Amino acid sequence: MRSAVIVSVMTVLIALFVSSGAEAGVAEGKKAFEAGKCASCHQIAGPASEKTIKDQLAKKGPELWYSGSKFKAGFLEKWLTNPQPIRPLVYNSLSERNRGGHPSLPAKEARDVAEYLMSLKSADVKALGIQPRDTPKGRVMFIKKQSCYGCHTVNVKGKAVGGLTGPSLSNASERLNPDWIYAYLSHPKAFKPVKMMPVYTGIINDADMKELTAYVGGLR
Ligand code: HEC
Ligand code: HEC
Repeated sequence: MRSAVIVSVMTVLIALFVSSGAEAGVAEGKKAFEAGKCASCHQIAGPASEKTIKDQLAKKGPELWYSGSKFKAGFLEKWLTNPQPIRPLVYNSLSERNRGGHPSLPAKEARDVAEYLMSLKSADVKALGIQPRDTPKGRVMFIKKQSCYGCHTVNVKGKAVGGLTGPSLSNASERLNPDWIYAYLSHPKAFKPVKMMPVYTGIINDADMKELTAYVGGLR
């Protein structure tokens, strides 16, 4: 009896300690985000339905208000300490090569900012638990049937091949949450008021969309 009480008191204390640690990280991360003037280039509030083409074009970088639904935990912290180009072309450009040079953060700030960004979620991303899977059907849809390959690079035998218009999907398995990929392919309007990518809703049926998502989510 007494040991049960001690165990439950300890569980509560541990839970308090863990949650206050996480909240402190989020608050510190928000501060570091503001101090770094990150919002000068990134939208940090949604939803997309309240944004206009002008709002989107006013920013030099992609919107981050649904980061916690889009990215895999761990990716952001690592990327922010050593940001390497994701998009082959400059954001919103159709011709200018992206030469990198994104601001980087020291380890502690990167951890806090990643925690802050991971706390920003979109209600349009449902937890479906789609598992990454390399399937012949997914691959054929991506490479041949739907022209995804014409705009996105993927790794083939260690070499990045494919089109340059969209973000590279070479390491999607490290970077993107499959449930977000599915939501993005199914309702792009929830995330972007203006899209440079075609809309596939109604063109690819739901079962195939999930299979394509599993394929993209497993790319490395
Ligand atoms: C001068 C504009 C600018 C500033 C300032 C800036 N960013 Fe960025 N950010 C960009 C651009 C452009 C990209 C796209 C880079 C790429 O695709 O290689 C980007 C990409 C990102 C990404 C990846 C998003 C995605 O969808 O791929 C994250 C996360 C990010 N920035 C966080 C930050 C944080 C945190 C700060 C502040 C410390 C910051 N940025 C400051 C322009 C900026
Ligand atoms: C005409 C070029 C084009 C085609 C074709 C295309 N995309 Fe895209 N894609 C883009 C662009 C550009 C973006 C960046 C968002 C935007 O501007 O709409 C994007 C974004 C994405 C993203 C989000 C990546 C990120 O890091 O933010 C995924 C996932 C994706 N596309 C998958 C696909 C799949 C799967 C197909 C085929 C069914 C496809 N795309 C076809 C141009 C294209």
